[in-house]
Amino acid sequence: MLHIQDLHVSIEGKAILQGFNLQVNPGEVHALMGPNGAGKSTLAKVLAGHPAYEVTGGSILLEGQNILELPPEERAKLGLFMSFQYPLEIPGVTNFQFLHAAYTACKGKITEPEFEKILQQKMALLNMREEFKDRSLNEGFSGGEKKRNEILQMAVLEPKIAILDETDSGLDIDAIKIVSEGVKKLLTKDRALILITHYQRLLEFLTPHFVHVVVAGKIVETGTFDLALKLEKQGYHVY
Ligand SMILES: Nc1ncnc2c1ncn2[C@@H]1O[C@H](COP(=O)(O)OP(=O)(O)O)[C@@H](O)[C@H]1O
Ligand SMILES: [Mg+2]
Repeated sequence: MLHIQDLHVSIEGKAILQGFNLQVNPGEVHALMGPNGAGKSTLAKVLAGHPAYEVTGGSILLEGQNILELPPEERAKLGLFMSFQYPLEIPGVTNFQFLHAAYTACKGKITEPEFEKILQQKMALLNMREEFKDRSLNEGFSGGEKKRNEILQMAVLEPKIAILDETDSGLDIDAIKIVSEGVKKLLTKDRALILITHYQRLLEFLTPHFVHVVVAGKIVETGTFDLALKLEKQGYHVY
């Protein structure tokens, strides 16, 4: 589904990703763990098509297609989704307007009343209060509410492959459970998930098939859930 090969990425002349390789098959859940500054968010943003990052080598194939040549909106249409570590606020644009526009752009035209029904169902899935629909996008949302709103976007768009960047940071224990259960319901055998996280709690709920340790712009070790437990105990300094 997703094949990242020998990816090299720089920002402002500084090399961040240095030979990053990852293969993700349909139905798989992968976790990326690693110290601050390792390049995890950079990878997420490069996948999504952030223009500030310069790809200096390698390739990213999504179902065989090189997405590096495509603008972000085309990647989203192909079923790629990224949730931000630091979600943006857009005053003056309601959550409903934003999600309706995103849905229309990715999945085709739909009337507001029709979309309203879908949105209600997805908000119920994530235990979100109805008022969030009519509030400005993320404006005045708490950290945890912003993260939950990212997952609402994912639930609405039903992407083939989603990259969740530290979605669990800022969520309380109950919210992690609700969000994980919501994400779990979206997982099917033809979809895949990449979780960037520092904590094992999210992984307990979403049981990754693979846990990768990212250090200095590349994967230095791959294992199963046990690796996440080991990292929790020993930290990253051994790498
Ligand atoms: N827009 C940017 N401008 C300058 N440096 C950046 C930018 N984005 C990321 N970096 C640098 O790239 C490195 C990797 O950052 P990041 O991908 O956010 O790491 P992680 O998510 O693993 O903590 C860090 O040293 C960070 O300071
Ligand atoms: Mg990060």
